[in-house]
Amino acid sequence: MRIPLNKKSREPLYRQIHQFLRDEIRCKALPADFRLPSSRTLSAGLGVSRITVMNAYAELESEGLVHIQPGSGTYVAPPAAYHSLPAEDGLDVHDWPIWQQELLSRTWLPARREMERLLASTVHPDPISFAGDLVAENLFPADEFRKTINAVLRRDGQQAFGYGNRAGFAPLRETIAHILAGQGIPTSPDHVLITSGSQQALSLVAQVLVQAGGSVLVESPTYIGAIDLFRSLNVRLMGVPVDEEGMRIEAVEEALKRNKPRLIYTIPAFHNPTGVCMAADRRRRLINLASRYNVPILEDDCFGDLRYDGRALPALKALDPNGCVIYVNTFSKMLMPGLRVGYLVASGPLYDRLLSCKYTCDLATSNLIQRALEAYISVGRYQAHLRRACGAYRKRRDAMVAALDAHMPEGVRWRVPKGGLCLWLRLPDGVSAIDLLPEASEEGVVYAPGSFYFPAERPESFMRLNFAPHTPERTEEGIRRLARALERYLSRRKAEEEPQRLHMGVTV
Ligand SMILES: Cc1ncc(COP(=O)(O)O)c(C=O)c1O
Repeated sequence: MRIPLNKKSREPLYRQIHQFLRDEIRCKALPADFRLPSSRTLSAGLGVSRITVMNAYAELESEGLVHIQPGSGTYVAPPAAYHSLPAEDGLDVHDWPIWQQELLSRTWLPARREMERLLASTVHPDPISFAGDLVAENLFPADEFRKTINAVLRRDGQQAFGYGNRAGFAPLRETIAHILAGQGIPTSPDHVLITSGSQQALSLVAQVLVQAGGSVLVESPTYIGAIDLFRSLNVRLMGVPVDEEGMRIEAVEEALKRNKPRLIYTIPAFHNPTGVCMAADRRRRLINLASRYNVPILEDDCFGDLRYDGRALPALKALDPNGCVIYVNTFSKMLMPGLRVGYLVASGPLYDRLLSCKYTCDLATSNLIQRALEAYISVGRYQAHLRRACGAYRKRRDAMVAALDAHMPEGVRWRVPKGGLCLWLRLPDGVSAIDLLPEASEEGVVYAPGSFYFPAERPESFMRLNFAPHTPERTEEGIRRLARALERYLSRRKAEEEPQRLHMGVTV
């Protein structure tokens, strides 16, 4: 068995083996009941110690991915064992009809659900969660929106309850085209397609442009919902590293030369999860490359208007002379996610294909909500809300940064995002955000472990902290708890390492 190991990496070898096998088992490359090589054979083949392999197998066993039969070997467990179903009416998996059981062998666990399961175990009575993709519910303009809906009902009556135009309510598309023109993206309402959230827009584009077995180039790390979406379509993900100026363009070019992807998916403004913005020259170079290699770009501008510092850079779509950018945005982050209104901008034959795909997916996005949204924007309430929300999120971001400055131990690094909802934090060398989680949740704080945002190799030393949902006081308390958990974790690790060092005769 060939397992790519990086012996220079800080990631322990047993964990590299564990992660490789875990991914192979989850994607069914190693089927149920497959007998893994003995620890002796694998360790000899990989040039590592037997204990390293045994540790990796033990991790897999603790996750229910393999079962070890003493004297016989280590076998891949059937999927039902690791997709453990919640007990329903006391039923065991084997009590389900066969067609239900068959589903278990065909399903896969989306990274988002995997993470939710990991986070669900907290038992603290008052946990503070920095883990979600959430905006602040207490900032939602619920009353204003209720009044707008009532006004729309008085104005439009029964018409508001029909399916409406399947491309979206025409005045809303006009309004969006107008807003985009103000941001340097000239477009026509006929090129705007209203979708049920931007997640649906991503899904439509992926369905139309990428066939199963094809590949998509993405930032690494990237939005977890995009990873899950592409995986659900059996699409291969080619990750390109991100630095403080966004996607590394030389790596994009190398990837384009090596293997022609069907699509480049990027979040250039306040990238989720790292918060970085793609530099202006990289934006231009990316568009040039996309044109040269004839690959469309899917630009997700989900956080673009949530800017707290500095000046906005032009969207990729605003720099796109040849129409190779498909632009996606949403009212979820800037207004309220429960509206489920997003949109995409595309032209040519693609627009028509996307429209047909939208039609087969859900016929149309809620007509009533689109009408209310259009009315809400037209009277200037949306812009006023956006200013209020940005002011509040800026304070919340600053509170998180101040708390990190005040409480985090040495070796923890982060970058202050100029907008968006999240801060990306790097733990001291060798500390895994997954391993730290039990300690943190005991203290009453949870976060999103960064490894879930990587399309392939999953480095564990990152975490994503969402500062948007909490007041500055609550954020301060949450970060204080997190720092306490980390200090405890580090001193426990040090205490565990000490006897080992002495045992190995290492003097310090
Ligand atoms: C980068 C990114 N794109 C798209 C979405 C989907 O949002 P929605 O479907 O609510 O518009 C999210 C949600 O968190 C996101 O973070």
